[in-house]
Amino acid sequence: MIARPTPPGGFETRGGRLLVGGRRLDDLAAELGTPFFAYDRRQITDRVADLRAAMPEGLRLHYAVKANPLPDVVAHLSRLVDGLDVASGGELDLALRIQQRADRISFAGPGKTDAELRAAVTAGAAINLESAGEMRRVAGIGAQAGTRPRVAVRVNPLFELRQSGMRMGGGAKPFGVDEEQVPALLRELAGLDLEFLGFHVFAGSQILDEEVLAECLARTVELVVRLSADSPTPPRYANLGGGFGIPYFPGERPLDLGRVGEALAGPLAEGRRACPEAEFAIELGRYLVGEAGLYVTRVVDRKVSRGKTFLVTDGGLHHHLALSGNFGQVIRKNYPLAVDGRLDEAAAAPVDVVGCLCTPLDRLGDNVALPAAAPGDLLVVFQSGAYGASASPTAFLGHPAPAEILL
Ligand SMILES: Cc1ncc(COP(=O)(O)O)c(C=O)c1O
Repeated sequence: MIARPTPPGGFETRGGRLLVGGRRLDDLAAELGTPFFAYDRRQITDRVADLRAAMPEGLRLHYAVKANPLPDVVAHLSRLVDGLDVASGGELDLALRIQQRADRISFAGPGKTDAELRAAVTAGAAINLESAGEMRRVAGIGAQAGTRPRVAVRVNPLFELRQSGMRMGGGAKPFGVDEEQVPALLRELAGLDLEFLGFHVFAGSQILDEEVLAECLARTVELVVRLSADSPTPPRYANLGGGFGIPYFPGERPLDLGRVGEALAGPLAEGRRACPEAEFAIELGRYLVGEAGLYVTRVVDRKVSRGKTFLVTDGGLHHHLALSGNFGQVIRKNYPLAVDGRLDEAAAAPVDVVGCLCTPLDRLGDNVALPAAAPGDLLVVFQSGAYGASASPTAFLGHPAPAEILL
């Protein structure tokens, strides 16, 4: 007996079919065409509520827009969270259009151009400084504009994550100012016409181990406290980053938020005692949206090549690079897949699922046990709400961009 694949996540099912926001996928496919991404508003709302309940009281929650910049998703989240973190002039424009309060927007990322910095300074968004050079440029732009820029210092910590999908702090990094250089930078900052807000640290991403995550956040609080001794004014803002992961692959399990919240309570209380004026925040991307999204493709062909069965779909890496294993993974693993309308059927012999691009990189699933699917069926990819369409080479081979919808 081959096991029946169970769809993960919080999607409702009816009669072997998946629903997003109460809508059937085949109805959505008829309306939008395939492939498309569908995001479930309720799951995003519930996710924020679960986080608020589990994290220590008063810890601010920001959304990292890069995870899913669909305007409807950003607008929905902007009503639920305390701030939006942007990583480009384009994301800044989007955030300003959606949420008029620039004091709730922070802008991080290496290589900010003068034009991007000017836009942030003029709007009054907080700029997370990535280097001394950037700090001097921001001060110059502020002087020209007759505005005092609001800045925080992004710190590249000395510590490295014990385990993480993507390390963004520790060692030599293009992100932030090395911890040991921060006191000197703060002395220079004190002599410039800049409004100092506090610190930003982002040590890494896609952490699924509660202990590692809590330790990383605790060490970040300690770092902020240490650096505050050299601040020109007491920090009012301490963005601890995040890195909360979601389970993508077999054997991975969801984070136990309660354990993270409990472990963070003590260190955060210490941080608040040492920096009483600081608002502590975490900034999350994929954790807020990743599990709430599906990528839906249609099976176009079923063929056998030298004993191996291929399901060929109209989707592919041009819409969902991460699914194909080409967005930071070392070894390709399968995202959870299902065949809509056949959720209650047992799995048949394993198949390879591929996309419509003429490249061997375009793989959606290797050796997956799915119910027998035929051309016309809808092949569904779970865990697709973050780093999907906007993180994929959508112009590659001239196929149309996928539709995206929040329901
Ligand atoms: C500065 C910063 N903040 C937030 C994020 C969001 O990470 P995630 O989607 O894993 O939560 C990233 C991801 O690279 C980042 O670089």
